Amino acid sequence: MEQDQYINALIELHCEMERQGPGDEVFSKHILSLLPELPEKPRIVDLGCGSGAGTLVLAETFNTTITAVDFSGPFLVELENRAKAKGMDHLVQILECDMGNLDWPAGSVDLLWSEGAAYNLTFAGALKYWRPLMAPGGIAVVSEITWFTDDIPEPVFEYWQNAYPEIASENENAKRAEAAGFKVLDVHRLSSSAWWTNYYDPLIERMNTLRPSADTIMQDVIKETEEEIEMFRNYDDIYGYSFYLLKGV
Ligand SMILES: C[S@@+](CC[C@H](N)C(=O)[O-])C[C@H]1O[C@@H](n2cnc3c(N)ncnc32)[C@H](O)[C@@H]1O
Repeated sequence: MEQDQYINALIELHCEMERQGPGDEVFSKHILSLLPELPEKPRIVDLGCGSGAGTLVLAETFNTTITAVDFSGPFLVELENRAKAKGMDHLVQILECDMGNLDWPAGSVDLLWSEGAAYNLTFAGALKYWRPLMAPGGIAVVSEITWFTDDIPEPVFEYWQNAYPEIASENENAKRAEAAGFKVLDVHRLSSSAWWTNYYDPLIERMNTLRPSADTIMQDVIKETEEEIEMFRNYDDIYGYSFYLLKGV
């Protein structure tokens, strides 16, 4: 029950935000421009889409239907509204379900996009689960929180051991991707400035809006979010998001 209330507060904190995690439209478009050519009518999915920052970039880029999956209804409603406002609702098909329990046929995805979400299944777990869904030669772009150095100061190491012990280096994550049956085409790092401009700065504003009326659960969520932000402020050279460009082999 308390866990549900915590998740609901986390969802409320991230509502009315363009993104629910770090990312950047220009960076995403650049990554999409690097991908091998897709089939004429590619089947494209955005897993853990949130309110659809990535979905809308995919819809605009490929002008085809994007299946946008998230288990949080409020984010999907926001995605629908945003797609309508941009005249792109005919290109977005939302699916409210668990991205770790999809009943899709094997080989049915040409491009799998998942930004800031795979960690919920763990990077290795997500890739292992999603690999059979990939069409022959299908491409996956999956971002994952990643160590940028081997020399990790104790406070940030401890923080991540507690928050997400699976965090690993790009080399280790590349090995995990290979073990799941993907070839690693490339790895690109999201800039620190994208974290601030597109995610943390709006999140700080949102926390300031909610703080005066926050109940104890929302206060806890805000406190933990502030700790996360402080960690990144101090250690953005030690960790960040890497985007793994993968091909099913
Ligand atoms: C950090 S947010 C990223 C959202 C979006 N991709 C973005 O970059 O703005 C992670 C998203 O994954 C969703 N999520 C987490 N676990 C999930 C699961 N098992 N199935 C479906 N969605 C999930 C959350 O509801 C949330 O919207």
